[in-house]
Amino acid sequence: MIRIANVLTLLVLASGAAHAQQDPVGLGKKLATSNCAVCHTFGKGEPNGQGPNLFGIVGRPLASESGFKYSTGMKAAAGQVWDEKLLDAWLTDTQSVAPGNAMTYFEGDEARRQKIIAYLRTLH
Ligand code: HEC
Repeated sequence: MIRIANVLTLLVLASGAAHAQQDPVGLGKKLATSNCAVCHTFGKGEPNGQGPNLFGIVGRPLASESGFKYSTGMKAAAGQVWDEKLLDAWLTDTQSVAPGNAMTYFEGDEARRQKIIAYLRTLH
């Protein structure tokens, strides 16, 4: 009986792990927490860090977070609106979007970028 219970527990754990792998938003949140949260906050009204708060970033104009002191390069690229495509370009190579900006981070793995962006899209 005990052995059957153990096997069942393992099965439940295994299906839980498989489910997590198919959940891009959940994985994106984990990636964002480990890769972006050192500089960015994600919750509504949370303070800016080294980078601006990212709540509502999809659909938000570039360099528009109040109270954040953007670099000259970032301000020069203002006038665009963040959508999935622009975020993908930004995370691939920030300098291609806003030359001279101050964010020293890039994500070369497309699948990881897509998951991060899937999570960012939920922040509304
Ligand atoms: C080492 C710190 C750091 C890390 C790590 C970092 N960023 Fe940034 N980020 C910045 C800074 C600083 C800026 C502002 C750049 C400027 O003003 O030139 C910025 C700006 C941005 C912007 C533009 C925001 C706006 O208001 O226009 C987005 C979007 C962004 N970061 C997303 C991310 C994501 C997503 C990650 C993780 C995958 C990440 N960043 C990781 C520091 C960082």
